[in-house]
Amino acid sequence: MISVAHLSKSFGGQVVLDQISFEVPSGQVLVVLGPSGTGKSVLLLQLVGLMAPDEGTITIDGVQLADLSGRDLLKFRQNIGYLFQDSALFDFMTVAENLAFPLKEHTRLKTGEIDARVEEYLKDVDMAGSGDKYPSELSGGMRKRVALARALIMDTKVLLCDEPTSGLDPIRSRDISLLIRDLSKKKNMTTIITSHDVKNSFLVADRLFVLNQGRIAAQGREEDLRRSGDPMVKEFLS
Ligand SMILES: Nc1ncnc2c1ncn2[C@@H]1O[C@H](COP(=O)(O)OP(=O)(O)OP(=O)(O)O)[C@@H](O)[C@H]1O
Ligand SMILES: [Mg+2]
Repeated sequence: MISVAHLSKSFGGQVVLDQISFEVPSGQVLVVLGPSGTGKSVLLLQLVGLMAPDEGTITIDGVQLADLSGRDLLKFRQNIGYLFQDSALFDFMTVAENLAFPLKEHTRLKTGEIDARVEEYLKDVDMAGSGDKYPSELSGGMRKRVALARALIMDTKVLLCDEPTSGLDPIRSRDISLLIRDLSKKKNMTTIITSHDVKNSFLVADRLFVLNQGRIAAQGREEDLRRSGDPMVKEFLS
């Protein structure tokens, strides 16, 4: 379970997140919707411990992030799969080397075991047999899928995806959205996805909220969001 209480973050005088509180029960998918610049990436960076909140607490599976530092924080971060907005694959490594990298860094698995795990995860994202390719030889949608496999390869129980559909056409957007949902459910992960892609968000989310001006403007399921009287939410969903 992910639990966030009274989280606030400002830059200079600009308040980006203002006392945000929410919970994601284990095994569920939460989508954080909001226009560009509303603090979606800032929220995810704090959840993975790459940015410290000004105020508030983040608790993941019973561990409060503020209690961790140095090696403990690095170790804890290995439990969290993070799909970056721009995929962030290593261009000078093959697909298989990209996936093997976290395993070589953080586990004592033998080469054969690493190869097997890499093949398994490539299969999970429908990229079996692509291990020898370089990222530059792949389409944007394929790169996203490889990045997703790399995010999950440590058998993480928490998955954070920052705008997984950005830069993709409608078909690829739907594909990656459904893939994230399927893997999330299959592996019983607790997942948070940020997006401004309303249609696909309703497809994948158990619950959603809309961020606006530092606050949660509407939350719940699709019907709850549709019922919102907030003019910004109405415009965003239309
Ligand atoms: N390190 C930083 N220093 C100063 N300001 C920052 C920093 N990171 C983010 N911001 C500001 O915080 C606000 C929220 O940024 P954020 O990247 O979280 O938006 P976003 O919702 O992810 O937008 P997008 O949909 O375009 O990805 C922006 O105004 C941004 O300029
Ligand atoms: Mg962002």
